[in-house]
Amino acid sequence: MTSEGVIIRVSGPTVVARSMAGARIHNRVLVGEDHLPGEVIRLEADRATIQVYEDTTGLCLGERVEDIGVPLLAELGPGLLGSVYDGVQRPLHAIRAKSGDFIGRGLAAPPIDRERRWEFRPAVREGDAVGPGDVLGTVAETPRIDHRVMVPPGSRGTIREIRAGTFSVLEPVALLADGTAIPMVQRWPVRMARPCRSRLPPALPFITGQRVFDVLFPLAAGGAAIIPGGFGTGKTVVEQNLAKYAGADVIVFVGCGERGNEMTEVLTEFPALTDPSTGRPLMERTVLVVNTSNMPVAAREASVYTGITIAEYYRDMGYRVALLADSISRWAEALREISSRLEEMPGEEGYPTYLASRLAGFYERGGRVSCLGGEEREGTVTVVAAVSPPGGDFSEPVTQSSQRTAGVFWALDPGLAHRRHFPAVDWKKSYSLYIGAVDDWFRETVSADWTDLRQELMALLQREEELQEVVQMVGIDALQEQERIVLTVSRMVREHFLRQSAYSEADATCTPEKGYRMLKAFLSFHALCRDLLARKVPVESILALPVREELERMKELPGEGFREAADGLIARIAQGGGNR
Ligand SMILES: Nc1ncnc2c1ncn2[C@@H]1O[C@H](COP(=O)(O)OP(=O)(O)OP(=O)(O)O)[C@@H](O)[C@H]1O
Ligand SMILES: [Mg+2]
Repeated sequence: MTSEGVIIRVSGPTVVARSMAGARIHNRVLVGEDHLPGEVIRLEADRATIQVYEDTTGLCLGERVEDIGVPLLAELGPGLLGSVYDGVQRPLHAIRAKSGDFIGRGLAAPPIDRERRWEFRPAVREGDAVGPGDVLGTVAETPRIDHRVMVPPGSRGTIREIRAGTFSVLEPVALLADGTAIPMVQRWPVRMARPCRSRLPPALPFITGQRVFDVLFPLAAGGAAIIPGGFGTGKTVVEQNLAKYAGADVIVFVGCGERGNEMTEVLTEFPALTDPSTGRPLMERTVLVVNTSNMPVAAREASVYTGITIAEYYRDMGYRVALLADSISRWAEALREISSRLEEMPGEEGYPTYLASRLAGFYERGGRVSCLGGEEREGTVTVVAAVSPPGGDFSEPVTQSSQRTAGVFWALDPGLAHRRHFPAVDWKKSYSLYIGAVDDWFRETVSADWTDLRQELMALLQREEELQEVVQMVGIDALQEQERIVLTVSRMVREHFLRQSAYSEADATCTPEKGYRMLKAFLSFHALCRDLLARKVPVESILALPVREELERMKELPGEGFREAADGLIARIAQGGGNR
């Protein structure tokens, strides 16, 4: 049912209208003569409080508000990949073409191009019975991604008509016996999780290409990670690296920026990135949802839902999707601003009391699922959200609430960033709750001693920490020779294993196999040092062993031939560290 009301109050992006008795929470409305898009967020008697997605300057009391009768919907279909949207899925390029750099008010353009025609290849025949999630056919959306056109949730029947050919997204590609026409495009309310057949436990890793993550704090495909870090600690570089190198077929990047230029960077940098695995534009498997600073808070608040709905849609096709959010703190700030306008009772640091449950609701939309549809398909949405705690203080509400739901905590440390140790991951504060779930995969796929090596590495780093305290108190001379070796090897590991430059051609990304062999080599070297010490070889000669330099150069070795070179080095270390 739709209803029409009258504006009785305007306060920034929040508008109150009366005579809205038929409206429902989250319904879309058009506000005022300019038809500004908005959403109902509170109802009292016949009064609706509305958050408007655009600048409300100039709105007058008495102007009309029209309830469209449906909630905020995402439009899903071929053409999403490569698109750049604002938080309510307005296509920025199409709108910019109409209005220039500043988006004019009330301007609308369909999220998915209506004119473009796609070559549709049917996957079912007339007479076949189909239900939600069944693949009707495919469209080559980009050279990399085949778009599976699925029966939308809620539809079911027997195919009366289906044919190959070129279609625009609104034309029906199939007709059911009851007359239902199914076009390529479908719509879904963004605040509601898309259905799946069942949720599966995490068992496979989400390979990031960053050793410190994959080896020490692995993320599961379908899991959620947060990257809390103060100003300039490298959150955005991590997210961009994941977009380029992580084990995902489709990337949905949600940019919530505060500083104007932050999002301008995303808008200029992202489209320029190439996909390292194909050499083609990364945008061919990416959807960008961005909020620039001149967009109102309500659109920013909606953006994470628009993003995750698109992610779920590709998951439903059976793809591995990464939802990267930078940063979720800006989203939480939007929530806080809206809440304060509603004069709700504030919780900690002014955030609404439902902050934690909203955040949990968002992270929990990630997951590994068995997709709807007759054919067995598995899809994942892995969520990685950057968190920008003010002053880098992790005890603030957004970090704390996120931490409660996300299984991985990749804490960035300003001290490391300052010393240009990147990724600036603090290995004392970081953790992964997925280790038990994904280690079987690493042990079976990479090496049986994967878990042991990680433990040995962690023990080495902890030992270094303790020894450094001793050194600070009483000086290096108080250490025994074996302890000095620990300090040297752990420094080598930090500098040449954990550290990984995003700008190095050979080392920007690293396979688990390469990471494993590097770690094996470093730890074998440590064992060799201990062995030589026990045989009374002087520390100085041990540290002068030529393999040391080789270890330090290992990360820069090219992928081709790496395995042989690394195995050769490990063997030589095992035989006493002599020259080739
Ligand atoms: N992995 C990396 N390799 C090399 N340099 C890096 C890496 N990560 C970060 N840097 C350096 O640190 C700078 C700041 O990183 P980045 O912009 O990602 O920080 P941020 O945490 O997103 O900052 P902000 O709080 O402003 O959003 C980069 O411009 C780059 O010079
Ligand atoms: Mg950043």
